[in-house]
Order: sequence, then structure tokens, then C-alpha cells
Amino acid sequence: MITVETLKALLLALAEDSHDDVERVVTGSEDLDDDERARVRAALDSADTAAGMARALGDAIRDAGDIDYLANECYRAAFYLGDGIADLRENPLFAFFSSKRTGRVLDKWVHYFPVYSEHFERFRGRPVRMLEIGVYRGGSLDMWRWYLGPEAIIVGADIDERARDVAAPDHVVEVGDQTDPEFLRSLSEKYGPFDIVLDDGGHEMRQQIVTAETLFPLLADGGVLLTEDCHTSYWEAYEGGRERKGTFIEWCKERVDDVNGYHQDRPLDRLWTDSVASVAFYDSIVVIKKQRRFAPFAEQVGHAEFLMLPRFSAQHVTELAARRDAAVAQREEERARFAQERAELRAQLAEAERRNSWVNTTRAFRTWRQAATSRLAGLRRSGD
Ligand SMILES: C[S@@+](CC[C@H](N)C(=O)[O-])C[C@H]1O[C@@H](n2cnc3c(N)ncnc32)[C@H](O)[C@@H]1O
Repeated sequence: MITVETLKALLLALAEDSHDDVERVVTGSEDLDDDERARVRAALDSADTAAGMARALGDAIRDAGDIDYLANECYRAAFYLGDGIADLRENPLFAFFSSKRTGRVLDKWVHYFPVYSEHFERFRGRPVRMLEIGVYRGGSLDMWRWYLGPEAIIVGADIDERARDVAAPDHVVEVGDQTDPEFLRSLSEKYGPFDIVLDDGGHEMRQQIVTAETLFPLLADGGVLLTEDCHTSYWEAYEGGRERKGTFIEWCKERVDDVNGYHQDRPLDRLWTDSVASVAFYDSIVVIKKQRRFAPFAEQVGHAEFLMLPRFSAQHVTELAARRDAAVAQREEERARFAQERAELRAQLAEAERRNSWVNTTRAFRTWRQAATSRLAGLRRSGD
């Protein structure tokens, strides 16, 4: 097995792009037996960049079943030597993370940052509510505050009481167990409904499943449940394994069936089918988005002569299409009228303001508000 010292020397030589040093380490290291030396050499020969070599070395270590963190160090070196850093250069969370040299500890898998951005970007700068389960040293709460902005309500929850003391004084931290549904429900009642629930707690199967089953239904419409470190679903130590019953990943696969619940020959499970908008799987992360869904139906557009489906008579289809077209046209007409009225009222308001007359402004505003309210009610009645 390659030792830490040999690996360090190899990665340093790769970082300095010194082929001579690489060769010296491979040839001269007394830690490597002949087989290992051959494996290391094969890995290095399989790539033509320093980043590629570091990555190949990591793969070789991983495939040989050697200590995980040695492979981690190779992949880390590969990333910074050019295998991935360009992908994250524009990522604000990664920028925050990598510039952090002091303060509370923050421990993250780097490939999580694009996933966070993809799902949390739309919440930035808004008065959203976020719950993070798993506070540890409080570093991630600092990051979420920086990212989401001052208007966000951010709550941390941890089973370890020390979390209260280590988090910044302006962070709310509740102490409790994520396998206790009552505790989770109380968090939602007190601070929710949450737009974001991030589960970075104990990562055990039961912890992740109870948290998802309890908190997903309580999310705000449009909210997300992001569960991280789902690789434990594959780890023996966490009772994981590929396709092993009872893991969180297997539980999530059932949610994929729920997303497609309407298309199966079985009763609907309303709770999940009507609210799981999507399930997104990433390396070690699952993001489940909640959104009230209307029942799915197929629709046809185009010339009526093509709408001859066996399910309805041609006449019925044509009538339906005509009614739908009339409804759409009416709504469009009302929308246009409303937009015009709004523009006129805005112009009146601007004129009143220009004259600097509070009386006129107030009257114009009242007239505008009454007209706008009744137009909005009309639009809503017509199904907008
Ligand atoms: C991976 S750390 C959290 C790291 C933190 N989110 C960060 O990014 O810096 C996991 C935390 O989960 C907490 N934890 C473990 N089991 C828990 C449980 N059953 N309920 C709540 N928190 C738990 C641990 O005390 C620990 O602080």
C-alpha cells in the first residue's frame, strides 16, 4: 500500500510539474513493492497532464481498496491542478468557501456547490425560511446567511447541545433529534413553513427517511428538501448497499414512482403524487422539490382536421377545441385591456406626481386601485 509520505511526495512533484521528481519518487520509494510500483507507474502513464495523473492515481488507490482519504487527496490535487476548478470558478458559494481562512469550521464535499446553486439561487435575497439539520461548528450557517441574505430566516438543528454555543450568536439553533417527528414538526410550526430543508445531520437511513417523511409534506409550496451525504446508502457501516432495502436512496427511488403516480395501474398516493414535482439525484445528494401539481392530461393543438382522436367524436373534439380557443382568446383580450388600463392609470399617477399634488395623487391612486382590483377580480373569475 502506498504510504502517506510517498503519496505526498508524488502529488507535490505533480503539482510542480516535475517529471524528474515524479520518476525519482516512483523509482526510489522503499514503501512500494514491485506490484505497487507497477500500479503507480501504470496510473501515471495513463494520463498526459498532472491533473489527469493525480486523478488516475486516485482511481488506482481506490480500486486497490486502500485507505479512502489517500484517494481523496489525489482527487483533491487533481481538482486544483485543473481537473475541475474551472467549473467552479464562477460559483459564489465555492468562492465564499475557498476564501474562508478563519472562523467557524465548514466541511463540505466540493461537488455539492453547483447543486446548491442550482436549487437555492432563486431564494437569494428573499425572505425565505431555511432549516439546516446538522450544525456541527456552525460554519455552514454562516455560509447560508451570507448566501441567502439578511432577510432569510435561518434555523439550525442539532442533537448536540454544544451546537448552540459554537454557532454565531445571531443564529437560531434548536437542539433535538432528527429521528423525532415531534421535534421536527415543532420546528416547522415555530419557524416554518420552510422553503429549504437541508439535511446534513447524522446521515443514517432512519434519520434521513424520518426527516424526509416528516418535513417534506410541511414544506412551503415551491420548497425543496436537499439531503446530503446520501453515499451512506451504499456504505456497509450505515447499513447501506446497492439496491439494499431500507436505504434512503431506495426510499427516494419510490418518490420517482410517485412523480409518475398518475400513469400506473394503482390508486394514487395523493400526498406524494400531488406534491412531488421532481426528484433530482446527484453524487451523494438528492433534491426533492415540492409543488402542487395539477392532474396531468394530454392536449392537442393545430388545425382541427388533425384533432381526430378515437377517444372522442370528431365533432366533440372540434367543439372542445373551439371552446378552449375562445377561452384563451378571451383571456388574452382581457389581459391586453388590463395592461392598457394599467398603463393609462400609471400615466395618470405619474402626471399627478409631476404636479406634486398630494390630493390628486391620492385620488388617482384610489381610482387606480379600485379599477385594478375589480379588473383583477374579473380576470380571476375568468380563470386567470
Ligand atoms: C456533518 S455535521 C454537520 C456539518 C455542518 N452542516 C457543516 O456543513 O459544517 C453533522 C451534524 O449532525 C448532528 N447530528 C447527528 N445525529 C443527529 C440527529 N439524530 N439529529 C440531529 N442532529 C444530528 C451532529 O451532532 C453533527 O453536528
